[in-house]
Amino acid sequence: MLLENNLDKILIIDFGSQFTQLIARKVRELNIFCEIISHNKSKNYKFEKNIKGIILSGGPLNVYQNKKINFNKNILKLNIPILGICFGHQIISKELGGTVKQAKSREFGLAKVVKLKKSILTQNFFTKNTANVWMSHGDEVKKLPKNFKVIAKSSNSKLCMIENLKKKIYGIQFHPEVSHTNKGKVILRNFALKICKIKKNWSPKNQKLKLINQIKDQVGNSKVICALSGGVDSSVVANLINNAIGKNLTCIFVNTGLLRKNEEKQVVNLFKNKLKLNLIYVNAEKIFIKKLKNISDPEKKRKVIGNLFIKIFEKYAKKIKNVKYLAQGTLYPDLIESKSVTGSQTSKIKSHHNVGGLPKKMKLKLVEPLKYLFKDEVRKLGLELNLSKEIISRHPFPGPGLAIRMPGVITDEKIKILKEADNYFISALKEYNLYDKIWQAYAALLPVKTVGVMGDNRTYEYLCLLRAITSEDGMTADYFQFNKSFMQMISNKIVNNIRGINRVVYDVTSKPPSTIELE
Ligand code: XMP
Repeated sequence: MLLENNLDKILIIDFGSQFTQLIARKVRELNIFCEIISHNKSKNYKFEKNIKGIILSGGPLNVYQNKKINFNKNILKLNIPILGICFGHQIISKELGGTVKQAKSREFGLAKVVKLKKSILTQNFFTKNTANVWMSHGDEVKKLPKNFKVIAKSSNSKLCMIENLKKKIYGIQFHPEVSHTNKGKVILRNFALKICKIKKNWSPKNQKLKLINQIKDQVGNSKVICALSGGVDSSVVANLINNAIGKNLTCIFVNTGLLRKNEEKQVVNLFKNKLKLNLIYVNAEKIFIKKLKNISDPEKKRKVIGNLFIKIFEKYAKKIKNVKYLAQGTLYPDLIESKSVTGSQTSKIKSHHNVGGLPKKMKLKLVEPLKYLFKDEVRKLGLELNLSKEIISRHPFPGPGLAIRMPGVITDEKIKILKEADNYFISALKEYNLYDKIWQAYAALLPVKTVGVMGDNRTYEYLCLLRAITSEDGMTADYFQFNKSFMQMISNKIVNNIRGINRVVYDVTSKPPSTIELE
């Protein structure tokens, strides 16, 4: 049994809010273990003693859509402290005798709340009796539930923060988990430490030894294989397992030819030469290019790459005798059920390529040491493992690589041009200390040629698109604002140095409506 199953924790019940993962991350940042379950699971969930507090998330429904809300109301009688956020606040209010109605004026974005009463929940939260918070609601609590008092109001939500001190049930209309709520973390800290009285029990620092021991216990003397991409997650996994079982681990690194400039050299140098891991390097550039010839449909590209990757991986994995386990860099967000609360099927936007399809066919058991961690926790763990900052702070890179940053058909020439452009862009970000401020950045090559003039000559060359975004988790994103001089510099550098590009554009769309990658 994993140690996490016995740890004291805060349970977060998700009603489909886009911010639920943020709540969990903020609680983890307080060094407190927490888990998320869907509200649909709340009916059959065993509320064991180690649950010290419950947070009810926001969500897109309204509390009167009874049929769609599969919520276990008995939770409110468990005598476990509860904090309801937004929709969570409204459902607590409705179930405990209050009323919720459509607000006359909705509140989206920044709002001011005014303190009406002292509360443990708001200790050190208000400055001069007010606080700036972030709201996102169309309904509001109109009548207080029984035995509740108002802690604070906003202009459009008179019952914005409420409490039942005796039962330790709290409701707040705004979102303390988002960074726009200035002191939101204070609310979560007060709830967890002062109201739930949970002890700090979670730190990436003490994860390293624990995870290494867990891996040893799980795999014993068996052999393990791992698909190494050179990204943060697979690098941390490979390192942990190497620490645990050494030569019984074999990593397979497939060079698809669609990696960033010199990436294959860096990965081989680090893992094979420096860290002395058992590494099989497969140079499959030619076969990938051949299979992708004349394919321009984004989904077809993804399928071809995903299938070929699996085939190659299987071929090399078979060469290692007695393999029993496949190691994967599955993270906690990958495990959280993210089905739509409205019951509708979430439409498929893109077929993501990863190695998740491998074990079923290969009949291997999984080793997933990171499956309780968020990305930022994996980065901290990487530091504990002495992985270089270069690897730990690397921007995410998609499995299909440059193929999906090159709309239209893929050619050797285009790959070469794109690798150069991307390298100039990323190097400049590092040089100007911008790389770590950006969540992900890349150059793309658009299948359009435009006219330019260089020297006294006409040029007719490709269009390079630059994308740089800020994000918390890649689910939503905004474009990064460069200043004019940086844009001028990088545009000149790319056009002056790369034959084949004569124009640079910057993508200023957010996600949604766009996605981060182009395909
Ligand atoms: P989108 O384009 O869906 O990307 O907004 C969100 C994040 O996911 C990455 N991405 C992928 N990662 N395999 C991966 O491992 C894939 O097939 C894939 N497609 C997109 C993307 O780079 C961004 O960080």
